Amino acid sequence: MTPVDAVVVLAAGEGTRMRSATPKVLHAIGGRTLLGHVLAAVAAVDAGQVAVVVGHGRDQVVPHVAECLPDAHTAVQSEQLGTGHATAVGLEQVEAKQGTVLVVMGDTPLLTARTLFELAAEHQTGRRAVTVLAARLADPTGYGRLVRDAAGQLVASVEERDASAEQRAITDVNTGVYAFDLGFLRTALTGLGTDNAQGEVYLPDVIALARSAGLPLGTGWVDDPREVEGVNDRVQLVALGAELNRRTLVAGMLAGATVVDPATTWVDVTVTVGRDVRLLPGVQLHGATVVSDGAVVGPDCTLTDVRVGAGASVVRTHGFGAVVGDGASVGPFSYLRPGTVLHAGGRIGTFVEVKNSHLGPGAKVPHLSYVGDAEIGAGTNIGAGTITANYDGVAKHRTTVGRHCRTGSDNVFVAPVTIGDGASTGAGAVIRRDVPPGALAVSGGPQRNHEGWTARRRPGTAQSAAAAGGHDEQADQQPDRDETMPS
Ligand code: UD1
Ligand code: CA
Repeated sequence: MTPVDAVVVLAAGEGTRMRSATPKVLHAIGGRTLLGHVLAAVAAVDAGQVAVVVGHGRDQVVPHVAECLPDAHTAVQSEQLGTGHATAVGLEQVEAKQGTVLVVMGDTPLLTARTLFELAAEHQTGRRAVTVLAARLADPTGYGRLVRDAAGQLVASVEERDASAEQRAITDVNTGVYAFDLGFLRTALTGLGTDNAQGEVYLPDVIALARSAGLPLGTGWVDDPREVEGVNDRVQLVALGAELNRRTLVAGMLAGATVVDPATTWVDVTVTVGRDVRLLPGVQLHGATVVSDGAVVGPDCTLTDVRVGAGASVVRTHGFGAVVGDGASVGPFSYLRPGTVLHAGGRIGTFVEVKNSHLGPGAKVPHLSYVGDAEIGAGTNIGAGTITANYDGVAKHRTTVGRHCRTGSDNVFVAPVTIGDGASTGAGAVIRRDVPPGALAVSGGPQRNHEGWTARRRPGTAQSAAAAGGHDEQADQQPDRDETMPS
């Protein structure tokens, strides 16, 4: 195949039926916008130039194009006068004078690079002026119909609104994707009229022009019509989102991952899942998330931009911008916030929130804790119910806990504070000052027992009856009664 010289992407339409403040092509499925998916396929074609025709919502669309495909040019079609007009506007940005140009729509997210390659190859092999990508649909409603002569040669593409009853019965449709001879297309676009039901300049009319000029033209075929299905409303957006997800999961399974319940598992196209990974029900993986070989994720996890190491386990966890090391374990009910790095073999346990913190190899925060802006050394165990008080109301401060420490339950580490290697802290300690390596830090006064306090301060209550050794069954049934007593 000779290279493709240019691709024009039509994305100026409003997408009224989305009923949205966001331009249609910026709605997302599978972790990318509709336009982003199309541009990813287009990028793989490696064309000389890409021109994206923008119009509605271009303040948002232009920067998005720059993000997806920095080399692409944008062309502004300020009034949507039709697909033929839009293509002409796009071609103004294309420098090449001859060769092959592809035209694609910006709202067909399942279009693949492979289909574009095949279309271009077919077009170039046939040395044609036009090759339209065709699909045979059981229900062709809404599409342009491909009309042929008695010999089966392509004659024209007729919009449904302009079609005769006989033409409407045709099930071969124009998918809106084309390969053109660039020189021919430039000339042809200047000769199109607007004599049709919508009063627009129709790109499909180029087919009839090529035919009447006696130029070679034909069709390429797409086996899978969903590839060229466009999104016009939210119902189609969601349906194509589900289909894209299904494809992503099938690809993942064929590559060696087990997806236990595809119906409740959502994986963005940007996610990487390794071999022998198990995704349990209720898992959503987004963004740049990577799940390495042998890891188990789920049930019920939402991970965005999280790297899960080989053999790690992540259960009922909400995480973003975090790293879970090889063989580490997280959850159930953990919250990983950006900057969390749990090294190999470490553990972040039940009802634990971690932010901007490094937990060394084998370090554990097993229960009911908040760890923010902290450095926790290898092999250290943080007691249940520990809080790093990292925020003094003005600024954030760091907590450093050394290697192989054993900190007590219900501690508060008032940052900035450092606990040395091999140190311990007592239960309930409030650690405001640094703890030297190897020391045991306790805080709070020694325990004092005030004998007879209940009898003196809570007379006549079930508590004081119990303190006196009595057993009032009626009071046992009404445990709340004490709380209404004056103290
Ligand atoms: C178009 C084709 C139809 C084909 C169908 C496949 C035309 C006239 N009809 O119909 O034969 O079966 O696609 O999906 O081409 N756009 C612009 N500027 C414009 C008009 C449209 O950029 O002035 C863009 C839209 O944003 C959209 C694409 O072109 O991405 C298609 O336009 P749309 O109006 O949706 O055409 P269809 O009615 O789908
Ligand atoms: Ca359309």
